[in-house]
Amino acid sequence: MFDGFSRKIDYLRLSVTDKCNFFCMYCRTKDFCSESSGQLSRDEIFRIISAFKKLGIQKLRITGGEPFLRDDIFEIIEFANKIGIENINITTNGWLDSEKIRKIIKSPLKSINISLDTLDREKYKLVTGIDGLDKVLKTVEELKKHKNVKINTVLIRSVNLDEIEDLISFAKKNNIIIRFIELMPIGVANQIFKDEFVSKDDVIKRFEGIKEIDIVEVSAAKYYYIEDFDYMVGFISSVSDHFCKTCNKVRVSSTGVLYNCLFDKSGLKLRDFLHDEVLLLKKIEDFVKKKKLIRSLESDMPMFRIGG
Ligand code: 5AD
Ligand code: SF4
Repeated sequence: MFDGFSRKIDYLRLSVTDKCNFFCMYCRTKDFCSESSGQLSRDEIFRIISAFKKLGIQKLRITGGEPFLRDDIFEIIEFANKIGIENINITTNGWLDSEKIRKIIKSPLKSINISLDTLDREKYKLVTGIDGLDKVLKTVEELKKHKNVKINTVLIRSVNLDEIEDLISFAKKNNIIIRFIELMPIGVANQIFKDEFVSKDDVIKRFEGIKEIDIVEVSAAKYYYIEDFDYMVGFISSVSDHFCKTCNKVRVSSTGVLYNCLFDKSGLKLRDFLHDEVLLLKKIEDFVKKKKLIRSLESDMPMFRIGG
Protein backbone atom coordinates (compact mmCIF):
# COMPACT_ATOMS: atom_id res chain seq x y z
CA MET A 1 0.00 0.00 0.00
CA PHE A 2 1.13 3.58 -0.57
CA ASP A 3 0.75 6.63 1.62
CA GLY A 4 -0.21 10.12 0.44
CA PHE A 5 3.40 10.90 -0.54
CA SER A 6 3.83 7.78 -2.70
CA ARG A 7 5.92 6.06 -0.08
CA LYS A 8 5.46 2.33 -0.30
CA ILE A 9 4.40 1.07 3.09
CA ASP A 10 5.43 -2.57 3.33
CA TYR A 11 6.80 -2.87 6.86
CA LEU A 12 4.70 -3.44 9.97
CA ARG A 13 6.03 -3.20 13.49
CA LEU A 14 3.65 -4.99 15.80
CA SER A 15 3.84 -4.75 19.58
CA VAL A 16 2.35 -7.98 20.93
CA THR A 17 2.52 -7.07 24.62
CA ASP A 18 3.26 -4.15 26.89
CA LYS A 19 4.50 -6.53 29.58
CA CYS A 20 8.18 -6.71 30.25
CA ASN A 21 10.34 -8.30 32.91
CA PHE A 22 12.90 -5.47 32.62
CA PHE A 23 12.79 -1.87 33.78
CA CYS A 24 15.01 -0.02 31.36
CA MET A 25 15.69 3.53 32.50
CA TYR A 26 14.56 4.99 29.16
CA CYS A 27 11.47 2.82 28.69
CA ARG A 28 9.58 1.61 31.76
CA THR A 29 11.06 2.39 35.14
CA LYS A 30 9.46 0.85 38.20
CA ASP A 31 7.40 4.00 38.88
CA PHE A 32 6.42 4.30 35.27
CA CYS A 33 4.97 1.02 34.19
CA SER A 34 1.26 0.98 34.71
CA GLU A 35 -0.51 -2.36 34.80
CA SER A 36 -0.55 -4.09 31.47
CA SER A 37 -3.73 -3.03 29.76
CA GLY A 38 -5.89 -4.91 27.30
CA GLN A 39 -3.29 -6.56 25.11
CA LEU A 40 -4.40 -8.12 21.84
CA SER A 41 -5.48 -11.75 21.90
CA ARG A 42 -3.90 -14.32 19.61
CA ASP A 43 -6.96 -14.29 17.38
CA GLU A 44 -6.94 -10.49 17.12
CA ILE A 45 -3.26 -10.57 16.21
CA PHE A 46 -3.94 -13.16 13.49
CA ARG A 47 -6.61 -10.91 11.98
CA ILE A 48 -4.37 -7.89 12.07
CA ILE A 49 -1.41 -9.68 10.47
CA SER A 50 -3.69 -11.15 7.76
CA ALA A 51 -5.11 -7.75 6.94
CA PHE A 52 -1.68 -6.14 6.61
CA LYS A 53 -0.45 -9.03 4.49
CA LYS A 54 -3.37 -8.41 2.12
CA LEU A 55 -2.36 -4.75 1.98
CA GLY A 56 1.14 -5.67 0.86
CA ILE A 57 3.18 -5.87 4.03
CA GLN A 58 6.32 -7.91 3.36
CA LYS A 59 8.30 -7.30 6.47
CA LEU A 60 7.09 -7.81 10.02
CA ARG A 61 8.93 -6.95 13.20
CA ILE A 62 7.42 -8.23 16.41
CA THR A 63 8.17 -6.00 19.40
CA GLY A 64 6.89 -5.39 22.91
CA GLY A 65 7.38 -4.96 25.81
CA GLU A 66 9.09 -8.30 25.76
CA PRO A 67 7.46 -10.47 23.06
CA PHE A 68 8.75 -13.76 24.46
CA LEU A 69 6.64 -13.27 27.58
CA ARG A 70 3.64 -14.34 25.50
CA ASP A 71 3.00 -18.09 25.64
CA ASP A 72 1.64 -18.02 22.12
CA ILE A 73 4.53 -16.09 20.58
CA PHE A 74 5.73 -19.03 18.47
CA GLU A 75 2.19 -19.61 17.18
CA ILE A 76 2.09 -15.97 16.10
CA ILE A 77 5.42 -16.32 14.28
CA GLU A 78 4.26 -19.55 12.61
CA PHE A 79 1.01 -17.92 11.54
CA ALA A 80 2.78 -14.99 9.90
CA ASN A 81 5.04 -17.42 8.09
CA LYS A 82 2.16 -19.63 7.00
CA ILE A 83 0.30 -16.77 5.35
CA GLY A 84 3.38 -15.89 3.36
CA ILE A 85 5.21 -13.12 5.21
CA GLU A 86 8.80 -14.07 4.51
CA ASN A 87 10.66 -11.43 6.43
CA ILE A 88 9.73 -11.94 10.08
CA ASN A 89 11.93 -10.42 12.77
CA ILE A 90 11.75 -9.86 16.49
CA THR A 91 13.20 -7.56 19.13
CA THR A 92 13.93 -8.99 22.58
CA ASN A 93 15.80 -8.13 25.76
CA GLY A 94 17.53 -11.50 25.46
CA TRP A 95 16.47 -12.85 28.87
CA LEU A 96 15.62 -16.25 27.42
CA ASP A 97 15.82 -19.82 28.71
CA SER A 98 17.32 -22.62 26.66
CA GLU A 99 13.96 -23.99 25.55
CA LYS A 100 12.97 -20.65 24.02
CA ILE A 101 16.39 -20.36 22.38
CA ARG A 102 15.92 -23.81 20.82
CA LYS A 103 12.50 -22.80 19.52
CA ILE A 104 13.85 -19.56 18.06
CA ILE A 105 16.55 -21.48 16.21
CA LYS A 106 13.89 -23.74 14.67
CA SER A 107 11.52 -20.86 13.91
CA PRO A 108 11.24 -18.96 10.61
CA LEU A 109 12.51 -15.76 12.28
CA LYS A 110 14.96 -14.01 9.94
CA SER A 111 16.67 -11.88 12.54
CA ILE A 112 16.69 -11.27 16.26
CA ASN A 113 17.56 -7.85 17.66
CA ILE A 114 18.84 -8.02 21.21
CA SER A 115 19.04 -4.96 23.43
CA LEU A 116 22.44 -4.59 25.06
CA ASP A 117 23.49 -1.19 26.35
CA THR A 118 26.55 -2.11 28.39
CA LEU A 119 29.01 -4.94 28.97
CA ASP A 120 29.46 -4.08 32.61
CA ARG A 121 27.40 -6.15 35.02
CA GLU A 122 26.76 -3.38 37.53
CA LYS A 123 25.84 -0.87 34.86
CA TYR A 124 23.60 -3.44 33.22
CA LYS A 125 21.73 -3.76 36.52
CA LEU A 126 21.44 -0.01 36.72
CA VAL A 127 20.05 0.37 33.19
CA THR A 128 17.63 -2.56 33.17
CA GLY A 129 16.86 -3.12 36.85
CA ILE A 130 17.84 -6.77 36.35
CA ASP A 131 21.06 -8.67 37.06
CA GLY A 132 20.86 -10.22 33.64
CA LEU A 133 24.05 -9.53 31.72
CA ASP A 134 25.44 -13.08 31.82
CA LYS A 135 22.17 -14.61 30.74
CA VAL A 136 21.77 -12.18 27.85
CA LEU A 137 25.36 -12.73 26.71
CA LYS A 138 24.66 -16.45 26.69
CA THR A 139 21.62 -15.84 24.47
CA VAL A 140 23.77 -13.88 22.03
CA GLU A 141 26.39 -16.65 22.05
CA GLU A 142 23.83 -19.37 21.30
CA LEU A 143 21.69 -17.54 18.78
CA LYS A 144 24.50 -16.10 16.68
CA LYS A 145 25.52 -19.61 15.60
CA HIS A 146 22.20 -20.14 13.87
CA LYS A 147 20.49 -16.81 13.26
CA ASN A 148 21.16 -13.25 12.18
CA VAL A 149 21.61 -11.46 15.50
CA LYS A 150 21.90 -7.71 15.84
CA ILE A 151 22.73 -5.75 18.96
CA ASN A 152 20.73 -2.62 19.75
CA THR A 153 22.56 -0.20 22.01
CA VAL A 154 20.80 2.94 23.20
CA LEU A 155 23.38 5.69 23.66
CA ILE A 156 23.23 6.96 27.25
CA ARG A 157 25.86 9.47 28.31
CA SER A 158 26.42 8.32 31.91
CA VAL A 159 26.27 4.64 31.00
CA ASN A 160 28.00 3.80 27.77
CA LEU A 161 29.71 6.78 26.20
CA ASP A 162 32.96 5.38 27.61
CA GLU A 163 32.14 1.91 26.34
CA ILE A 164 31.63 2.58 22.65
CA GLU A 165 34.97 1.05 21.69
CA ASP A 166 34.41 -2.02 23.88
CA LEU A 167 30.98 -2.54 22.40
CA ILE A 168 32.31 -2.33 18.84
CA SER A 169 35.06 -4.82 19.75
CA PHE A 170 32.44 -7.10 21.25
CA ALA A 171 30.40 -6.98 18.04
CA LYS A 172 33.45 -7.62 15.91
CA LYS A 173 34.62 -10.53 18.07
CA ASN A 174 31.18 -12.10 17.75
CA ASN A 175 30.84 -11.17 14.12
CA ILE A 176 27.46 -9.52 14.64
CA ILE A 177 26.09 -6.14 13.72
CA ILE A 178 25.78 -3.46 16.37
CA ARG A 179 23.56 -0.40 16.00
CA PHE A 180 23.79 2.58 18.27
CA ILE A 181 20.41 4.17 18.84
CA GLU A 182 19.93 7.79 19.84
CA LEU A 183 17.90 8.12 23.01
CA MET A 184 14.43 9.33 22.05
CA PRO A 185 12.45 11.75 24.23
CA ILE A 186 9.53 9.39 24.60
CA GLY A 187 7.56 8.57 27.75
CA VAL A 188 9.81 8.21 30.76
CA ALA A 189 12.92 9.03 28.70
CA ASN A 190 11.77 12.65 28.66
CA GLN A 191 13.00 12.87 32.25
CA ILE A 192 16.58 11.84 31.48
CA PHE A 193 16.83 13.13 27.92
CA LYS A 194 18.54 16.43 28.62
CA ASP A 195 21.36 14.91 30.67
CA GLU A 196 21.79 11.61 28.90
CA PHE A 197 21.29 12.27 25.19
CA VAL A 198 24.26 11.52 22.94
CA SER A 199 24.01 12.23 19.23
CA LYS A 200 25.37 10.16 16.39
CA ASP A 201 27.81 12.97 15.63
CA ASP A 202 29.16 12.89 19.20
CA VAL A 203 30.16 9.29 18.56
CA ILE A 204 31.33 9.62 14.99
CA LYS A 205 33.74 12.43 15.76
CA ARG A 206 35.71 10.10 18.02
CA PHE A 207 36.88 8.05 15.08
CA GLU A 208 39.26 9.20 12.43
CA GLY A 209 38.68 7.86 8.97
CA ILE A 210 35.07 6.87 9.56
CA LYS A 211 33.18 6.52 6.30
CA GLU A 212 29.51 6.21 5.58
CA ILE A 213 28.74 3.14 3.51
CA ASP A 214 25.85 2.53 1.25
CA ILE A 215 23.94 -0.54 2.18
CA VAL A 216 21.09 -1.52 0.02
CA GLU A 217 18.79 -2.31 2.88
CA VAL A 218 15.75 -0.26 3.60
CA SER A 219 16.19 0.41 7.24
CA ALA A 220 16.30 3.26 9.67
CA ALA A 221 19.99 2.57 10.29
CA LYS A 222 22.90 4.19 8.53
CA TYR A 223 26.11 2.22 8.45
CA TYR A 224 29.68 3.45 8.80
CA TYR A 225 33.03 1.77 8.33
CA ILE A 226 35.52 2.47 11.13
CA GLU A 227 39.08 2.00 10.00
CA ASP A 228 40.59 1.58 13.49
CA PHE A 229 38.39 -1.44 14.04
CA ASP A 230 38.17 -2.62 10.47
CA TYR A 231 34.49 -3.05 11.23
CA MET A 232 31.12 -1.59 10.40
CA VAL A 233 28.68 -0.01 12.85
CA GLY A 234 25.12 1.19 12.45
CA PHE A 235 23.44 4.28 13.83
CA ILE A 236 19.76 4.94 14.26
CA SER A 237 19.62 8.67 14.70
CA SER A 238 15.92 9.37 14.97
CA VAL A 239 16.53 12.57 16.91
CA SER A 240 19.41 14.36 15.18
CA ASP A 241 18.60 13.24 11.67
CA HIS A 242 15.19 11.89 10.83
CA PHE A 243 14.72 9.47 7.96
CA CYS A 244 11.06 10.22 7.25
CA LYS A 245 11.57 10.67 3.51
CA THR A 246 12.17 6.96 3.02
CA CYS A 247 9.96 5.71 5.83
CA ASN A 248 8.21 2.49 4.83
CA LYS A 249 6.64 1.49 8.11
CA VAL A 250 3.61 1.72 10.29
CA ARG A 251 3.09 0.44 13.83
CA VAL A 252 0.41 -1.34 15.77
CA SER A 253 0.47 -0.99 19.55
CA SER A 254 -0.11 -3.84 22.01
CA THR A 255 -3.73 -2.70 22.37
CA GLY A 256 -4.32 -2.72 18.63
CA VAL A 257 -3.98 0.94 17.75
CA LEU A 258 -2.42 1.70 14.36
CA TYR A 259 0.08 4.58 14.31
CA ASN A 260 1.63 6.01 11.18
CA CYS A 261 4.60 7.23 13.17
CA LEU A 262 6.20 6.54 16.52
CA PHE A 263 5.74 10.20 17.38
CA ASP A 264 2.07 10.51 16.42
CA LYS A 265 -0.42 11.30 19.15
CA SER A 266 -3.46 9.71 17.59
CA GLY A 267 -4.04 6.42 15.90
CA LEU A 268 -6.72 4.15 14.51
CA LYS A 269 -8.32 1.66 16.90
CA LEU A 270 -8.23 -1.52 14.82
CA ARG A 271 -10.32 -3.41 17.37
CA ASP A 272 -13.39 -1.49 16.22
CA PHE A 273 -13.15 -3.09 12.78
CA LEU A 274 -11.74 -6.57 13.35
CA HIS A 275 -15.17 -8.18 12.91
CA ASP A 276 -15.36 -7.09 9.26
CA GLU A 277 -12.25 -7.61 7.14
CA VAL A 278 -13.41 -5.56 4.14
CA LEU A 279 -14.06 -2.59 6.40
CA LEU A 280 -10.79 -3.18 8.25
CA LEU A 281 -8.74 -3.10 5.03
CA LYS A 282 -10.46 0.09 3.90
CA LYS A 283 -9.99 1.83 7.26
CA ILE A 284 -6.28 0.93 7.36
CA GLU A 285 -5.69 2.11 3.80
CA ASP A 286 -7.49 5.41 4.40
CA PHE A 287 -5.58 5.96 7.61
CA VAL A 288 -2.16 5.20 6.11
CA LYS A 289 -2.88 7.70 3.33
CA LYS A 290 -2.78 10.37 6.05
CA LYS A 291 0.79 9.52 7.12
CA LYS A 292 2.66 12.78 7.63
CA LEU A 293 5.74 13.60 5.59
CA ILE A 294 7.94 14.50 8.55
CA ARG A 295 7.61 13.59 12.20
CA SER A 296 7.23 15.99 15.10
CA LEU A 297 9.55 15.22 17.95
CA GLU A 298 7.56 14.68 21.11
CA SER A 299 5.48 11.91 22.50
CA ASP A 300 3.90 10.76 25.74
CA MET A 301 3.30 7.28 24.46
CA PRO A 302 5.42 4.81 26.38
CA MET A 303 7.72 2.69 24.23
CA PHE A 304 6.65 -0.53 25.93
CA ARG A 305 3.16 -0.02 24.52
CA ILE A 306 3.89 1.21 21.02
CA GLY A 307 6.95 -0.98 20.62
CA GLY A 308 10.60 -0.06 20.42
N1 5AD B 1 14.94 5.78 23.05
C1 5AD B 1 15.55 4.95 22.17
N2 5AD B 1 15.29 3.62 22.10
C2 5AD B 1 14.41 3.12 22.97
N3 5AD B 1 13.96 1.86 23.14
C3 5AD B 1 13.06 1.87 24.13
N4 5AD B 1 12.91 3.12 24.62
C4 5AD B 1 13.74 3.92 23.92
C5 5AD B 1 14.05 5.31 23.93
N5 5AD B 1 13.45 6.16 24.78
C6 5AD B 1 14.40 0.75 22.30
C7 5AD B 1 15.61 0.05 22.82
C8 5AD B 1 15.29 -1.37 22.86
C9 5AD B 1 14.04 -1.45 22.05
C10 5AD B 1 13.14 -2.51 22.51
O1 5AD B 1 13.41 -0.20 22.20
O2 5AD B 1 16.56 0.12 21.83
O3 5AD B 1 16.34 -2.11 22.26
FE1 SF4 C 1 11.58 -4.02 28.40
FE2 SF4 C 1 12.70 -3.44 26.07
FE3 SF4 C 1 11.52 -1.52 27.47
FE4 SF4 C 1 13.79 -2.57 28.35
S1 SF4 C 1 13.49 -1.41 26.44
S2 SF4 C 1 11.94 -2.21 29.59
S3 SF4 C 1 13.60 -4.67 27.75
S4 SF4 C 1 10.51 -3.27 26.56
